[in-house]
Amino acid sequence: MKYRVTVLSGDGIGPEVMAEGLKILQAVAAKYHHEFEFKSELIGGIAIDQTGSALPAATLKTARKSHAVLLAAVGDPRFDDPKLPVHPEDGLLALRKGLGLFANLRPVKVFDQLVDASTLKPDVIRGTDFIFIRELTGGVYFGKPKKEWVTAGGRKAVDTMVYSEHEIARIVRAGFEVARARKKVLVSVDKANVLKSSRLWRQVAIEVSAEYPDVTLTHALVDACAMQLIRTPSAFDVIVTENLFGDILSDEAAQLAGSMGMLPSASLAGIPVSGHKTFGLYEPIHGSAPSIAGQDIANPVATILSVAMMLRYSLALETEARAVEAAVNSVLERGYRTDDIMAPGNTRVGTRQMGDLVAAEV
Ligand code: IPM
Ligand code: MN
Repeated sequence: MKYRVTVLSGDGIGPEVMAEGLKILQAVAAKYHHEFEFKSELIGGIAIDQTGSALPAATLKTARKSHAVLLAAVGDPRFDDPKLPVHPEDGLLALRKGLGLFANLRPVKVFDQLVDASTLKPDVIRGTDFIFIRELTGGVYFGKPKKEWVTAGGRKAVDTMVYSEHEIARIVRAGFEVARARKKVLVSVDKANVLKSSRLWRQVAIEVSAEYPDVTLTHALVDACAMQLIRTPSAFDVIVTENLFGDILSDEAAQLAGSMGMLPSASLAGIPVSGHKTFGLYEPIHGSAPSIAGQDIANPVATILSVAMMLRYSLALETEARAVEAAVNSVLERGYRTDDIMAPGNTRVGTRQMGDLVAAEV
């Protein structure tokens, strides 16, 4: 079968880590006799430069015709000024919304070989292996009103955190499905002691839990969860939460893994039921890292692991997904490290060499 993949390299280190992700897909194609058709489109700062828009219509159109989208990074300091009318990040938000990618899966796995790369004590992080299910197309990111205006008393701005029961139910179901395929425990994170939207969230989560009697649901307040994440991270397995909480908690959790350069993500348009295909977008959680762009030092592992998630969730190629993950593991096992995870006694490699090693292993 021929799989159509939309390729969005974006800004900064994006094109470099994307090249390694595609290298791995080619290795998978050769080994398992698949055919991948790549179509590159623009997004982010480079898209603003060439078209004036952070998400040109052609990008959305190609993405909609493909089986899956692979994205590397968006962001460019030239557009940092908040007064500019358009920013690279707008492209990513519009793409998520335009493709209906409501379920963002962010696994946080601490590789045994990297327990020393974190700023936290090895004993605290060893064995950490959980996954965030972050709501991605609602909440305060998209709620209306969203505006800034001038009053007699000075400037004001408002963002609105709004959720419908439909939006909550479908992301909570995604959480339950993922939990069902793992340890059957789900933590729903909210701020139900203060926020109306969180009270509804908690009620709906409890209602949906009736459909999953085999999974144990517990609730945590977001502030307490933030604390527990660095206190006893290995106690978590599946965490479901709303958009902004998930954004903040997942950056915090990224530090457990030593480097953002290690963490992949999937943004899905459907509920991930084991063995079924769901359209999705796959991207490393790190940004465009402009300061190290073009130097062949960025870590491509997060992109490579995102490719594995794409094989699993959008193409239902579980064997291939596991082969990619095992290849990464083996390359780390043999002591190869990019700059961000380098430690004494390891072998330092560049972006391209890391990709070559993983591809050879596949
Ligand atoms: C992320 C990023 C984005 C977000 C930005 C770039 C809009 O931080 O994917 O976590 O806030 O969702
Ligand atoms: Mn973020």
